[in-house]
Amino acid sequence: MEQSALPPVTLRELDQLAGRASTVIARLRDRLYAPGTEKRLELQFNVRRAAEMVGRSEKLIRDAEADGRLPEPEKDPDTGRRTGYSLADVNRMRQVFGTLPHRAPSDPAMVLAIQNFKGGVGKSTTVCHLAQYLALKGYRVCVIDCDSQASTTSMFGLNPDVDVDEEEDTLYPFFRHGGPPDLSYALRATYWPNIALIPANLGLYDAEYEFAARMAREQAFVLDRLRAGIETIKDRFDVILLDPPPALGMLSLSVLRAANALVIPAPPNNIDFGSTAHFLKMLGATLNELAQAGGARDYSFVKILATKMNDTKSAHVAIKRMMDAVFPMDMLLSVQKDSAEIDNATANLSTVYELTGAATRTETHKRCRAYLDAVGREIEVLIRKTWPSHHAQLRKEGVL
Ligand SMILES: Nc1ncnc2c1ncn2[C@@H]1O[C@H](COP(=O)(O)OP(=O)(O)OP(=O)(O)O)[C@@H](O)[C@H]1O
Ligand SMILES: [Mg+2]
Repeated sequence: MEQSALPPVTLRELDQLAGRASTVIARLRDRLYAPGTEKRLELQFNVRRAAEMVGRSEKLIRDAEADGRLPEPEKDPDTGRRTGYSLADVNRMRQVFGTLPHRAPSDPAMVLAIQNFKGGVGKSTTVCHLAQYLALKGYRVCVIDCDSQASTTSMFGLNPDVDVDEEEDTLYPFFRHGGPPDLSYALRATYWPNIALIPANLGLYDAEYEFAARMAREQAFVLDRLRAGIETIKDRFDVILLDPPPALGMLSLSVLRAANALVIPAPPNNIDFGSTAHFLKMLGATLNELAQAGGARDYSFVKILATKMNDTKSAHVAIKRMMDAVFPMDMLLSVQKDSAEIDNATANLSTVYELTGAATRTETHKRCRAYLDAVGREIEVLIRKTWPSHHAQLRKEGVL
C-alpha cells in the first residue's frame, strides 16, 4: 500500500502541541495582568454619575457626606480633587438612601439560563455583560459557569488551569456521589463587589460521563442535582445566571431543569438560526421528557435574543425581520449587535463594562454600551416582573 506523503502525528506530538498552547495562554495572561496582580475593577464614577446610579441628587449625597451618614469622599492628595466613587461606594449610598433594588425575601430568586445548544452564539458574552449590567444596578448576582471550557471563568479573571481546582472549586464535587450537602463551598467573591462566581474548568467535563452512567438508576437525582444545589444558595442572590456548555449533554439538561427562565441567544444567520430552530424543537421534546422524570417545569419567561447582529449585512437584516415576524412575542426587542468593541474587550479578557479611560470615550464604545444597556434593561424588567414586591414601582415606571 502506498504511504501518505505526511508522517503520522504521534500522541507525543499532540501533547507537545497542548503544552505549547498552554505557554501561549500563560504569555497572553502575563501581557494582560502584571505578575502577581489580580484583575481589579477600575471603574470610578463622578458624583453626577453616582447620583444617577443611586437615584438621589448630588446635593443629598453631599449632605450625607457632610453629616456622617456617608464617609468623606476620597481625594487625590496632589490635586485635592475627588477621585470618584467605586461601585462599592455607590452601593453604600444606595443602602443609606434605601435605593438598593434587591428583591424582597418573599420574591423568588431569578435563576436565568442563557441557553442554546449551538456553540459560539454569544452565551458567555451575554452572561458576563448581563451579570455586570445587573451588578452596576446594585443587584446581588451569582454567575455559575457550567461549561468546562470555562470562558466565563476566564472573563472573571481566573485562569481555569491554575486558579481553579477541579476537585474542590467547581460544581464537580457537588455532582459526585457523597458530595458536599450544599453549594456554598464553590461560591467565590469576584473583583465585582456584588458578583459571586462558581467557576469551571476542564475537570467539570467528567461530570458528563458520571451523570450519564448514573442516569439509568438515579435519573431524578442526577437531573435535579444542580437545581437542588442552587436551592441551597439562592437566598443570598437576586439573580443567578447559568452559562451552559454548547451541547445537549447532562450538564445542559441540568441547566434547563434548574432555570426558572431562559434567554436564547441566536445570531440571525442561516446556519446559526437553523441550529436555534433545532434547539427549540429539542427544547420542547426535552422538557416533555424532563417533565415525565418528575414534576413539570414552567418558565417565567423564554425569550430569544438576536446576537452578533450586523445591520450592514442584508442577510442578517432579512433573517432578523423573519424572526420578528414569526416570533413576535418571543423576541427581545433589543438586539446584541456585532461589535468590534466586544471582540476587542474579549481579546483582553474583559467586558465592555469594564473598560475605562480613553477607550470609553470613542463612539464605537458608546454605541456598544447603549445597546448592551438596552438588552440588560429589557431583561431586568422581565426579571422584576417576577418579583411581586417590585410591581408597584414597575407600575410607576409605566412598564406594568
Ligand atoms: N456581539 C458580538 N460582537 C462581536 N463579537 C462577539 C459578540 N458576541 C460574541 N462575540 C464573540 O464571539 C465569540 C463567541 O462568543 P461566546 O463565547 O460568548 O459564545 P458562546 O455561545 O458562549 O460559545 P460556546 O458555545 O463555545 O460556549 C467570542 O470570541 C466573542 O468575543
Ligand atoms: Mg460559552
